Parts: sequence; structure tokens; C-alpha cells
Amino acid sequence: MAEKKAEAKVEQKAAETKGASAEDFARGLRGVVAAQTRISRVEGDIGRLSYCGYDIKDLVEHCTFEEVIYLLWNLELPTKAQFAAFSEKLVAERTLPAGLIYTMRTLPHTTPPMDALRTCVSLLSVYDPEKPEDRSLEANWRRAMRLMAKLPCVVATFERLRKGHEPVDPHPGLSMAGNFMYLMTGQMPDPDAERAMDVGLILHADHGLNASTFAARVTVATLSDVYSGITSAIGALKGPLHGGANQEVLKMLHDIRLMDRVESYIHEKMARKELIMGFGHAVYRNGDPRAAILREWSKRMGERAGDTLWYRMSEKVEAIVTGEKGLKPNVDFYSASVYHTLQIDHDLYTPIFACSRVAGWLAHIMEQYSDNRIIRPLDQWVGAEPRDVVPLGQRD
Ligand SMILES: CC(C)(COP(=O)(O)OP(=O)(O)OC[C@H]1O[C@@H](n2cnc3c(N)ncnc32)[C@H](O)[C@@H]1OP(=O)(O)O)[C@@H](O)C(=O)NCCC(=O)NCCS
Repeated sequence: MAEKKAEAKVEQKAAETKGASAEDFARGLRGVVAAQTRISRVEGDIGRLSYCGYDIKDLVEHCTFEEVIYLLWNLELPTKAQFAAFSEKLVAERTLPAGLIYTMRTLPHTTPPMDALRTCVSLLSVYDPEKPEDRSLEANWRRAMRLMAKLPCVVATFERLRKGHEPVDPHPGLSMAGNFMYLMTGQMPDPDAERAMDVGLILHADHGLNASTFAARVTVATLSDVYSGITSAIGALKGPLHGGANQEVLKMLHDIRLMDRVESYIHEKMARKELIMGFGHAVYRNGDPRAAILREWSKRMGERAGDTLWYRMSEKVEAIVTGEKGLKPNVDFYSASVYHTLQIDHDLYTPIFACSRVAGWLAHIMEQYSDNRIIRPLDQWVGAEPRDVVPLGQRD
């Protein structure tokens, strides 16, 4: 029996490691299923995104970001008592280590906030009170709670420091969204602005096996630690094809500036065959459901601010790009104008995305640990055939 089992294992290993054929090669891993998950479900064909079975539209309508974090981590929405206990723990973890703030002060003011965030998350690991060798579930959940609570505080504190202001202490009475805005501005947030931020955080919280989540899972699948997983994920999110797209959208709207210039600008961009940021998606073929919700918020927040120019320009860009290229907006497109109306600098958009997605990354990291196998795909050799080294002295 044991012998048969061992034989089967050897056979399986041989099948897994045999040289990949040309047909096996999946560029960008398209079509490859690399994990099983219970966290979020992306149904690209029908344009639906759900967290643990709940449609994001339903969650945005009825829940706060904190409830969504609980959901992603526990696969169930909290009861009132569970929610109170969970919120209390999150609030208690908001304070940043003094050493971290000291290091933030030493960063050049020109440091891109996403680089500052990646550096600070890596640094947070050395201030974590858990013993590094303690890889227990309990210790990892405590690390998760700390990271979740501290990330927005890192982004907001760095924003204040680079603008020449002193950091303010977290406000225990505010929601995560509200506290983030308070730490950035030093002023109590307006309830509408706080809700718009909360909705943005809910919508960005998880999205299947996207590039940054995959990066996090690959890192921790070596049994590396939670902080390393989140640092990898932040690095992956930064790229303009992923989370970096939202700030590129704002740059584009800034370049356009006037309603009259939308048409010529977009046509010129299309003629040069340039990517139009905030459009297209690797999975959604019929539109990203998050974009539809954010479109509404972009309009609402523009009207509230008495300045709908950014919303109207965005709508016109969408009409042209969808009408002429068939490409639909993704989550990054309208989040840019929402954050613009909240008077947030464009280079904070991707760090804010990270403050939300960290909820999903942490859920995936824990899911990976719970049923782990090191992630190790094959490659296909397309290089030189075997050959002999000619010593340097004999090479012309
Ligand atoms: C998201 C993205 C990386 C998906 O990439 P993908 O899965 O390789 O895209 P597709 O397979 O749907 O691309 C099909 C074609 O549409 C083009 N296309 C896709 N998105 C485009 C965009 N935003 N602008 C212009 N053309 C685009 C591709 O270049 C490709 O053209 P080709 O067949 O001539 O090579 C891609 O759409 C993109 O770069 N978008 C802009 C960046 C962005 O908004 N990222 C945030 C994602 S949430």
C-alpha cells in the first residue's frame, strides 16, 4: 500500500516537472487556475463581483469597510457583538511606532508615497511585538490586524510630513475612512466625503487572483512571513497596468483640462495606439461592476463640490473609448475623479488602493497558509542549445 502511494507520488512529480510543451505555455498565466479561494468571486462574463457570496452592490449599500474586512477574514458578516469587538481591536492598533515615524521624517520629501508605503510596511515588521519564529495562526492574525490598522495611518502620516506638517494622533471615534482623512488633514471629515472614501475602500478590498494578490500568495507560499507577503503585493500593485492606473487616469484628465479638448486628445491617443488608462480588464469583458458604482459617486461628489468638470470629462472619455474601441472603464477610471473631488493628491490614489486591498491580501495570505504548497510553475526553454565555454583569453 505504502509502496503504491510512493510510486503514485513519484509519477505525479514526474508529470508536474516534465518539460512544458509549446501548448502548455500560457502567456501571462491566462486561463491557468492557480488557487482555490472562498474570498471573492469575479464573474467576468456577467460582470459580477462578490465577496464571500455577497454582491458588492449589496455590500456598498448596507455595510461599512470595517464590516467588509471582517467578512473577508471570517467568510461571514459579523454580529453586532462581533463587530464591536473587531472594531475595538482595529482602533487599538492604529498607533505607529515612534521609530517608524522617525524614519519617515528622514525620507526625501520627493519620495513617491507608494515607495514610502512599501518601505514602511517592510520596516513595520521589525517593530512587530510577535516573535519572528512564531508562525502560529493566532500570531499571524494579530499581525494582520496591525497591518490593516496601520497602513492608512502610514499613508496619511507620510502625506502630512512631506507637506511640512506635524503628524496628528489617530482619532479613536472615527471609522477607518474617517480617521484616514482626519490624519491627512488634521480636521474632522465631512460625512459625505467620509462615506465616499468608505465606498472606495469597500470596492477595492478584494478581486480574485489579481497580480498583487498572486504576488502575496507566491511570497508566503515559501512560508515567508506576512509582512514580506504584503511588501511583495505593494510592489506589484504599484505598476501602471495594475493599481498605478488610477493616478495615470488623473494625469490624463489633467492633460485634457477642458471639455472641448476631450475628443481631440483621445483620438490622438488612439491614433498613436497608446493605452488609455482606466479602460479594459483582464477578466471583465462586459464592464467592471465597480466602475458603475464609482461613476455614480463621481457625479454625486462633483455636484456636491459644485464642480462636475472632472465627472463630465470622464463621461465623455468613456463615450468615445467605449463607442469606438469597445473598451469599458475599470475600477480605476472613476475612482480618479472621486478622489480628485475629495482634494486628494493624485500620487496618493494607489496607496489608498493598497489601504483597501490589504484586507484582501491578508485574507489570501491566511488562506494560502491554511492549505499551502510552494508555487513553482515551469518555464519553457527558448534559449541557446548546450555548448562549451571558450575561456576569456581565447575569446576575441
Ligand atoms: C487591464 C489590462 C492590463 C488587461 O490587459 P489584457 O488582458 O492583456 O487586455 P486584452 O487582452 O483585453 O487586450 C485586448 C486588446 O485591447 C487593447 N487594449 C486593452 N486595454 C486597452 C486600453 N486601456 N487602451 C488601449 N488599448 C487597450 C490591447 O492592447 C489589446 O490589443 P491587441 O489585441 O492589438 O494587442 C489592459 O486592459 C490595460 O493595460 N489597461 C490599461 C491599464 C489599466 O487601466 N489597468 C487597471 C486594470 S483594473
